[in-house]
Amino acid sequence: MTKLAIIGGTGLSRLDGLTVERREMVKTPYGAPSCPLVFGEINGVQVVFVSRHGNRQSIPAHLVNYCANVWALHSVGVERIIAIGVVGAIDDECNIGDIVIPDQIIDYTADRSGSYESDVSQDHHLIDFSYPYNDALRQKLIEGGKSAGVSIVDHGTYGASSGPRLETVAEIRRMERDGCSIVGMSSMPEAALARELGVDYAFCAVAVNAAAGKGDGAIDVTQWKSAISTGMKSAQQLLQATVVSL
Ligand code: HPA
Repeated sequence: MTKLAIIGGTGLSRLDGLTVERREMVKTPYGAPSCPLVFGEINGVQVVFVSRHGNRQSIPAHLVNYCANVWALHSVGVERIIAIGVVGAIDDECNIGDIVIPDQIIDYTADRSGSYESDVSQDHHLIDFSYPYNDALRQKLIEGGKSAGVSIVDHGTYGASSGPRLETVAEIRRMERDGCSIVGMSSMPEAALARELGVDYAFCAVAVNAAAGKGDGAIDVTQWKSAISTGMKSAQQLLQATVVSL
């Protein structure tokens, strides 16, 4: 049974070093996940991989079926998820190309199906979400990143934004006042859904731009390409180093 999953984000629909054993489209009560789950091995460790935005990167963050993705992974026995995604940097401590392992979340998303507790007839359970990311898994990612020589920021608050548009300067100022160090569109409701199912979850955030108002002028998404490919290379080095220690 596979215990470790990796959710790939923007620019990561295929994992280097993954020896593929099989692919399976898992059905869930919430509909179809973004793509078939890929079962395989990295450095001899069994992993299951799913590309959050689909195999062709065609599903934007606000249309991802987070409930189906996390449910599908849990249904095949996954107990730990390492999620990867791109972010904008708010805090000066975080530079483009850095990998941030956040320890907190502020959720600014709206209109996303954020819970499996959606049926009025069932018994409802309140989940503790004080520490949204699993600390043991975070520490492994931080150690893995350091041993791979990747530039890493070992803490931070992830501001989860709805998208698909990027934020206004005023929205980023508010997030900064709230204490957010990075902003992205993917870790919520993913993190909360994993917690509801009892799956350990940590996030590896690849900084690809300065958030609105934090750089020079407007954000030019056409310049993300090289930041994404460099950042995802670093993320994969971190993953390879981390996976063997799990
Ligand atoms: N905002 C929201 N999501 C993002 C950004 C950003 O600036 N960069 C990459 N994903």
